[in-house]
Amino acid sequence: MNEIIKVDESLCIGCGNCIRTCPGGLITKGDQTPVPTEGSWDLCIDCGHCVAVCPTEALHQRTLGPEGCIPIDTHLIPTWEQARQFLISRRSVRVYVNKALEKERILQCLDAARFAPNGANRQIVRWVVISDPKQVRRIAEMSIDWMKSVRETNPALYKEAKLELFTSAWDSGQDQISRGAPCFIQAWAPKDERTAPQAATIALAYAQLAAHAMGLGSSWSGGINTAAQAYPPLKKLLGLPEGTVCYGTILLGNPAETFARIPARKDADVTWL
Ligand SMILES: Cc1cc2nc3c(=O)[nH]c(=O)nc-3n(C[C@H](O)[C@H](O)[C@H](O)COP(=O)(O)O)c2cc1C
Repeated sequence: MNEIIKVDESLCIGCGNCIRTCPGGLITKGDQTPVPTEGSWDLCIDCGHCVAVCPTEALHQRTLGPEGCIPIDTHLIPTWEQARQFLISRRSVRVYVNKALEKERILQCLDAARFAPNGANRQIVRWVVISDPKQVRRIAEMSIDWMKSVRETNPALYKEAKLELFTSAWDSGQDQISRGAPCFIQAWAPKDERTAPQAATIALAYAQLAAHAMGLGSSWSGGINTAAQAYPPLKKLLGLPEGTVCYGTILLGNPAETFARIPARKDADVTWL
């Protein structure tokens, strides 16, 4: 195909959905069917909205046709009450069953995260998964090594970030880094990618919500994440390529704690302009 879209004239009903939905305004009304605008080849972000919005499967985009798009089953979309309860009942889990997690379940979380919003649909987030509980523990230990090295090299940071809490807990036999989780997931992206911090963070949030939907627990781990960015031995072990940043780390596993209530949070701080 040498155009960004191809429309089957016999199927197109002229609804104009594809024209309205295109984020770049790259589709316009043609004689018979919608047509791409001049220069659209370079500007199209391959988001697939034009294909997904077409009610008659008339439109093929250069990378995607209707057959490549999952049909939406509206019966499976939760009601507002269900969705709200689901969202507000997710908690950061800090007590885990220390039993390896099936690869399949980890992949289910990452599969859902593929559909998270991301800058210009560039889909630049890459995942690193450590799913061997012994290795998770080893990395927690290395994160502690990093914190102890900070005590020597940057005492002000050590104090300000309250790293003493983690190191002293570790020395007294408590792992407040990986908390017994059998798995963690990191979201990596190129350093020079403008939208990477947001894309990685949102993708991790999707993965956490997917985990919650599967009855799994998760929590961000600032300790592992910072060590993965700052501590050369850990960077090396994780294989973080030059020019890549680890934007977030979440622990994942079967929760060994059950919440009976939803803790109160501040009211939304809104400025209406
Ligand atoms: C960027 C970020 C870093 C976090 N780091 C840690 C961490 O290192 N250890 C931890 O136990 N929780 C960590 N959390 C989880 C927060 O403490 C938690 O989200 C917050 O207390 C609210 O609780 P909730 O997630 O159960 O609603 C982090 C959360 C975020 C967003």
